[in-house]
Amino acid sequence: MTIREGSIEIETISTFEKGPGKISPGFYNRTMEISRDLTVALLKSLKPGIALDSMAGTGIRGLRIAKETDWQVVLNDRDSRNTEIQKSNAKLNSLDLEIQRSDYFCAVSSRKWDYIDVDPFGTPSGLVDAAVINLKNDGILGVTMTDTANLEGKSLDKGKRIYGAKSIAGKFSREISTRIFVKYIIERGASLGRAGRPLLVLRYGHFIRAFVRFKKGNKVADDSLKDLKMAEVEGNSVGPLYTGRLYDPDLLGKMTDFGFSENSKKMFANFENEDLMFLFFENSNEFREVRKTRILDELHNRGYKAGNTNFNDKGIKSNVDEKEYRNMIRSL
Ligand SMILES: C[S@@+](CC[C@H](N)C(=O)[O-])C[C@H]1O[C@@H](n2cnc3c(N)ncnc32)[C@H](O)[C@@H]1O
Repeated sequence: MTIREGSIEIETISTFEKGPGKISPGFYNRTMEISRDLTVALLKSLKPGIALDSMAGTGIRGLRIAKETDWQVVLNDRDSRNTEIQKSNAKLNSLDLEIQRSDYFCAVSSRKWDYIDVDPFGTPSGLVDAAVINLKNDGILGVTMTDTANLEGKSLDKGKRIYGAKSIAGKFSREISTRIFVKYIIERGASLGRAGRPLLVLRYGHFIRAFVRFKKGNKVADDSLKDLKMAEVEGNSVGPLYTGRLYDPDLLGKMTDFGFSENSKKMFANFENEDLMFLFFENSNEFREVRKTRILDELHNRGYKAGNTNFNDKGIKSNVDEKEYRNMIRSL
């Protein structure tokens, strides 16, 4: 089957328009288009270097980077059937790039990289350290986790074992899980003498994707831990989790003109709101739900920044203080 995404066309063996999909060689997952859009937009906004798509599958992410940016790209997958699919997809798009068939650990350690993409099925636990070690100074890791249920659902004990933090189910779970995942990446980096700084993160569908830049140095690595804290959420102590900025505002500015798909555009529009506060307000008080547009208008009239969040459809992010927000919503 032929699929178009971004500016390329690929042949896939099986296609999933929604959800995680079934594991098989040559499979294409439409839900991940937004993750690939953001990868390409982010790299396009930065000085080009060398990128490894370490778990490339059909090759779609790396092929898009190669076609839509000036980065040099290497594709890798351990499954020879994927290697063959990648070769024919590269040819289909008139792209001449290096394609390897290696285990992940051999591929990442084969040279030093400016960008490494890690896109496993499930958790990247056990994979992050090798990527961080093999990034050049100031290199970027783009990493996916699809075991969100371990940090948001019924298997929170498993999440605690894997990511080293206590999470919580409920309305804040998507933001908490994202911040625990970022904490995990920063902690792995710090243990290797690297300071991780998030550039952009996304919680969407069944996955979290984080882009984190790593700087070498023990002092900066120590400093990178200062935003990893416990937090009180609805009467529960959760964490440790990352409480700092999730987005680099300069980078977001440079990415604005990227030709995002409709879905990605909607998510991207909310990124600038996410760092207005830790967690979010809801559009309801003890008595009733208030229309979101009404609340946002009122916050803007009062001179505050405010907008939607991708972490919860009912959520509002604003730089207003909590007491004023509560009084305001009661008065509406
Ligand atoms: C989720 S898929 C990648 C999807 C792809 N990045 C995309 O955007 O469509 C994960 C891929 O990792 C490959 N993989 C799994 N374990 C690996 C390992 N240890 N080394 C290299 N590749 C591996 C699998 O063969 C599979 O193609």
